[in-house]
Amino acid sequence: MAESPATLIEGIAKRYGSGSTAVDALEGVDMTVYPGEAIGLIGPSGSGKPTLLKCLGAVIEPTTGKFTLAAR
Ligand SMILES: Nc1ncnc2c1ncn2[C@@H]1O[C@H](COP(=O)(O)OP(=O)(O)O)[C@@H](O)[C@H]1O
Ligand SMILES: [Mg+2]
Repeated sequence: MAESPATLIEGIAKRYGSGSTAVDALEGVDMTVYPGEAIGLIGPSGSGKPTLLKCLGAVIEPTTGKFTLAAR
């Protein structure tokens, strides 16, 4: 049987604020990380790297989507 992911991110979105000043920092982010894998996040300024990490660390709550951590 294939090894289970250590981290599974499905359809994460994060919107800061609301109305005309809303910022969609993340939209439709999927990621699968297997045990022992080392990953890096790269992207231009404004692409939401810290926002994704804060969601993973439960510092902020995603607007939509699902995380599974240590899914073994
Ligand atoms: N607390 C916040 N409130 C409103 N907008 C934010 C907040 N944090 C980040 N943003 C906005 O979300 C977007 C992604 O930011 P961030 O996660 O810092 O990504 P990066 O470091 O890749 O630029 C940017 O447009 C940023 O201005
Ligand atoms: Mg930034």
